[in-house]
Amino acid sequence: MTTEEVRQAFLEYFLERDHRLVEPSGIIPKDDSTLMFINSGMAPMKPYFTGQLRPPYPRLVNIQDCIRFVDVGSIGDSYHGTSFRMMGSWSFGDYFKERAIELAFDLITGTFGIPAERLSGTVFVTDESMPGVPSDEESARIWERFLPSNRIIGRPPEDNFWGPAGISGPCGPCTEIFFDRGEEFAEREVDDVLVPGRHIEIWNAGVFMQYFKDEAGVFSPLPMKCVDTGAGLERFAMIFQNRASIHEIDQYEKPYQLIDQRIGDAIWSRIILDHLKTSILMIREGITPSNTREGYLLRRALRRAMIGVYLRGISLTILQEWVESLSEVIDDKDLTLRHKSEIAHWLSEERTGFESLMRRSGKYLDKVAAAKELDAQHAFTLKTGMGIPEDLLEEFCSQHNIPFPKTEFLRLIEEHKEISRRQKK
Ligand code: SER
Repeated sequence: MTTEEVRQAFLEYFLERDHRLVEPSGIIPKDDSTLMFINSGMAPMKPYFTGQLRPPYPRLVNIQDCIRFVDVGSIGDSYHGTSFRMMGSWSFGDYFKERAIELAFDLITGTFGIPAERLSGTVFVTDESMPGVPSDEESARIWERFLPSNRIIGRPPEDNFWGPAGISGPCGPCTEIFFDRGEEFAEREVDDVLVPGRHIEIWNAGVFMQYFKDEAGVFSPLPMKCVDTGAGLERFAMIFQNRASIHEIDQYEKPYQLIDQRIGDAIWSRIILDHLKTSILMIREGITPSNTREGYLLRRALRRAMIGVYLRGISLTILQEWVESLSEVIDDKDLTLRHKSEIAHWLSEERTGFESLMRRSGKYLDKVAAAKELDAQHAFTLKTGMGIPEDLLEEFCSQHNIPFPKTEFLRLIEEHKEISRRQKK
């Protein structure tokens, strides 16, 4: 299935079952200071869960662009992206756990034809961090109709309690569906039935939204019980197309190949594609590089892409070509000439800044390369005294086979921040 076919199949499935299509929002939240970016399909719908606003219909479906910088450290693996499209469906005070699980299983095994033997379902198991929130035994019982008990897996709050999106808001226990790609995909051995890389979460098949968490961390019941589901469009496409990562699916094939021909390193090709794509989405919505908040994340994304290119001895001008290739394929009917010229403008500005950073840093980095070592104190001085960013230091060390003393370095940075905080008080 092409990415486009996956998208259509998902939407049609829910539309045929009395859900209504709702327009997705942009990536910048409106009237929600608790969230920097729309990070899920439910984020723009928070007022429907809390009862502040009436949803246009009790059952909805859509596909939402999402940004998740929390996952930035995982980019380069097969299934994380700082931007992705979430296929989502919702029930507001209508059906709950049973129907949600039935629908998810039917869509995955029926419409999408994924064999049930390759699926596992996870359910929420509570602990002392969640007073008053019980384990989700009901979902476990429902799953028994579809899966053998060894593939119904209880997981703690950090895995199976979703939300809130932001500091406070609607949240609840969730049940996720994992797909087994086969043992050849295992990224590392872990003492868990779900192995990263091999078992991929393809659908959060139901956050059972029934609590509101306030800013003090207290849970209270929502006025109605709701279902919020979310599935990564790119993850589905990766599985159906048997691609190595979400960045290599049909839609991104052309820019990915252009990048990989020059970079020749899958992890870095994925990082570069991901970060450039996210930067396009951000600039399109009016975010510009800066040293604070969204602008800083944009600057870091562009800088990381530049690090990957520059340290391989490739001219940074190539980035403009890759951005143009990506602009041709990202699904955005509204990427106007004005947007394209803004993207080119900011890319060129940031490139100039990066080149000047490299001119300033060159002699210090050369010394590190000559010494063939970098201790944490030295790395700390290079960062705080010379302004050399840590991602540049880290990648530079990796290119020169020099161990980067990350733990100790981060400890020194934390200590430094703590001292500055105390001095400000
Ligand atoms: N909000 C849930 C998630 O992001 C389900 O969509 O996983």
